[in-house]
Amino acid sequence: MSQLIIRGGRRLEGEVGIQGAKNSILPILAAALVTADQIELRGCPRLRDVDASVRILQGLGCTACWEKNTLLVDTREISGCAVSDRLCREMRSSAIFLGAILARCGQAELSYPGGCELGPRPIDLHLSGLRDLGAEVDDTGGVLHCSAPRIEGREIVLSLPSVGATENLMLAACGAAGITTIANAAREPEIVDLQNFLTACGARVFGAGTSTISIEGRRPLHGCTYTVMPDRIAAATYLCAAASAGGTVFLRGGREEYLSTVTAVLREAGCSILSDGNGIACCCKGRLSAVRPVRTAPYPGFPTDAQAILMAAFLKNRGATVFEENMFENRYRHVDELTRMGADIRVSGRTAVVCGVKSLHGAPVCCTDLRGGAALCVAALAAEGETAVREICHIDRGYEDIARDLRFLGADIVRTES
Ligand code: EPZ
Repeated sequence: MSQLIIRGGRRLEGEVGIQGAKNSILPILAAALVTADQIELRGCPRLRDVDASVRILQGLGCTACWEKNTLLVDTREISGCAVSDRLCREMRSSAIFLGAILARCGQAELSYPGGCELGPRPIDLHLSGLRDLGAEVDDTGGVLHCSAPRIEGREIVLSLPSVGATENLMLAACGAAGITTIANAAREPEIVDLQNFLTACGARVFGAGTSTISIEGRRPLHGCTYTVMPDRIAAATYLCAAASAGGTVFLRGGREEYLSTVTAVLREAGCSILSDGNGIACCCKGRLSAVRPVRTAPYPGFPTDAQAILMAAFLKNRGATVFEENMFENRYRHVDELTRMGADIRVSGRTAVVCGVKSLHGAPVCCTDLRGGAALCVAALAAEGETAVREICHIDRGYEDIARDLRFLGADIVRTES
């Protein structure tokens, strides 16, 4: 069983390159299906979720091969339109393939993606949007059978700005005759990246980054060479690591415009942050201060994916900070593990109050989910003594090599295989 051994108490000093964005490459890999051509994806992070997506593409008859961080995908030939239950279960966000397979094949079969550590992960908005486009969706018996011999462009209004539903419907709409408009669309930067990829493949997609996205379907698409945007949550993680341990770090390739709500809170707490076209510099000295309540919200609000890692960075602040998790039902699972390290956190429903303590101590802790696991590493950097972080397979889903990256920043961290 792999684990991370972290010896905390030392300030960080160093520079790290920011990996490609997990939540951008996953929908882009699904979009590759729609192009029916050869795609060269550069800056691709080597992640468990990316490997799972590649296996889904290969299961559909596509080919894929790696050249360091470049992934070459060939979707010219496909042999089916069904994704096996085993592959669907490997990655919760496999639902993102539904729209792409439908656009390519006119039908699709996937098993219902289960919930995950964060709580139930419904896809009712995905399915109602596909039905709006004319697809027949039978979701009985745990397997989704979708057929749409002819998808017609329509206006779709999402009741929630769901990231996955927005992406799924953008891809389905590429196969629809006419114009599809998605209202109340999610505005995340990863959706803009998906639009930019589709545009590079000859699609006509407009409005990503705003609440209304338009797609002109049934255009002849082709392959392209595309560089994936940097991962804003990985960047937020390493900023929070510096806030937690103190020190001066530079995130090469980090784009502050994608995580301005996170840097605003870190500045309020007392960090000095500067950024330019090359990256983000962060300097944290002395004890940070508590800040106004941190409420997670759809982009451009505070990202739910940064909630756990910011909480971990604020465990020794002067004063108390209130967190409100409004996106997922069960996203405080890291709190019990942080408490083992001496944190003082009180949770009530969607609210968690973090009361700053004078010191933290290393302890054996267990990852509960992807970002909760990263939070344990952030906290361990500020803890006296040694912390052993177990179940790090969760972290490997979203970070290419968190130990390598934190070592670049001067952390004392090793990965052991036992
Ligand atoms: C994406 O998940 C990200 N995953 C998540 O990142 C991220 O936390 C989330 O967006 C919010 O920003 C990927 O991009 C692969 P949603 P997604 O649909 O698409 C409810 C990480 O750590 N909802 O925007 O699943 C849903 O239950 C991961 O990198 C419905 O009710 O998020 C949730 O409460 C974790 N019905 C809220 O909307 C639906 O049909 C936001 O979900 C769809 C969603």
